[in-house]
Amino acid sequence: NVVRNYTFELKKVPLAIDGYSRLVWAVNGQYPGPMIRANKGDTFNVTVINKFGSPATIHWHGIDQKGSNWYDGVPGTTQCPIPNGVTFSYVFNLTQSGTYWYHSHFVAQYVDGLKGLIVIHDPEDPYKKEYDYEYVLEMSDWYHKPTGDFVPEFRSPSYHGGDPMPDSGQITGVGQWNCTIPACTPTKFATYKVEKGKKYRFRIINTSAMAHFTVSIDNHPLKIIEVEGTIIEPVVVNVLSINIAERYSVIVEANQPVGNYWIRANMSNCSLPGNGPATINNETTVFTNLDITGILRYEGAPDTLPTSEAYPANVSNCHDQDPTTLKPISLSPSVPTGDATRILLVVGVQPRPVLQATINNSSIVMDFSYPSNKKVIDGAGFITSDNAYPYDTPGGAIEIILNNTERTRTHPFHLHGHSFWVVYQGEVGSWNQSLDSLKYNFDNPIYRDIVTLNEASLTAIRYYADNPGVWLIHCHIEWHVEMGMVAQLVELPSLFKQSTIPNQVLELCEAYDSSNS
Ligand code: C2O
Ligand code: CU
Repeated sequence: NVVRNYTFELKKVPLAIDGYSRLVWAVNGQYPGPMIRANKGDTFNVTVINKFGSPATIHWHGIDQKGSNWYDGVPGTTQCPIPNGVTFSYVFNLTQSGTYWYHSHFVAQYVDGLKGLIVIHDPEDPYKKEYDYEYVLEMSDWYHKPTGDFVPEFRSPSYHGGDPMPDSGQITGVGQWNCTIPACTPTKFATYKVEKGKKYRFRIINTSAMAHFTVSIDNHPLKIIEVEGTIIEPVVVNVLSINIAERYSVIVEANQPVGNYWIRANMSNCSLPGNGPATINNETTVFTNLDITGILRYEGAPDTLPTSEAYPANVSNCHDQDPTTLKPISLSPSVPTGDATRILLVVGVQPRPVLQATINNSSIVMDFSYPSNKKVIDGAGFITSDNAYPYDTPGGAIEIILNNTERTRTHPFHLHGHSFWVVYQGEVGSWNQSLDSLKYNFDNPIYRDIVTLNEASLTAIRYYADNPGVWLIHCHIEWHVEMGMVAQLVELPSLFKQSTIPNQVLELCEAYDSSNS
């Protein structure tokens, strides 16, 4: 067990990601933040020094936090925010391997920049010998204004529009924007160098606020081998569909003539408003001119732009890669197929003027100064707007049914504290079918930590209750989080009551309260 120590200094720095300079909520001056790496079984000790001038937290997306709920990084659920000027250490063991990421979970801070990649190597990875090098292909939408400038307007009852629209997009810190103002310096393209005859593992990750991506590399098929930490039987695609917060590893063979090839990351807006155009930040609701590109450059190729042709777009935007094609290799334990404790969550967006994104008709209201996990230990009760769902049978199978009642939007849902089996993913329009007749897929279903709810459909996920604490389940479209499309799962409260929250976590609340008074 090796302890991997990292220090993150959080500071706002001016960066021109897409040519346009703005203040970025950066880690050690970088965007995306530094990648952190470890081996399965190691421990991370990440010391965060907050110099943002405002509070912050960091969530370790996809990391189970087995036995360390208080290091999950969710303000109001697992900790109080880290006030400006305070240093705090996240310490947790790694029982998983694969591709993960970290991001702020405090207001919309990750959209302003606080995010980075986590890679956990497994010495027993069956694909280890099938590639020579590895790369990260991180992509997202990008906003020119700090989110604090428009979120209050977006949240106000008098606003009648959709989600705030991005200005551009970026690949691994390099974006393109129609650079027509004097204050803009045109950027180059994110460029990945390859050597003919070699094989590359690309860890692909979408860290957007709201954009779904389809990703391809001209003339180079993508062999999918990992989905969010789960090693799968290989699936070869030309175009990969990747929703917010999802991760895939693919193997790319540099077996084409020496030259330059476009890497294409095309954005879709899957959050089209049902009641009028968006007016915040950008006048359009259709993502035009927001597609981003990078270059795959062979050693020996000239420093010129590619002329390669795109694959036909044959995947459906705003949906997941077909989950029934993604087959885990040697997963243990296996999917619970018997009776399960069922929790039904109905997902919707209420129209303006009361616009809120809801789960079971309630929008969460976070109390940053009294985290839910502390409430459980104190024996304090929950109220309706806490959106809290308890279950208390150790080892029991849990089934969450997500009923997306919306006809025009898809929502990428993420669960904290667990990966889960996707045991049912309904067709568009299947939202009102009877739960008794659900046709589960128990045939080695995919195990992951994000699933996209199709338009007006039912989705069922399962996992075992073996991780005491309070865990979020939420849409990962940041604007829906801002509107409250979040619920809390109170897992094994009787067991959790016996645990002791470390002092440095409790002290955060005192520091936060005094910084606020
Ligand atoms: Cu990527 Cu609640 O998190
Ligand atoms: Cu959503």
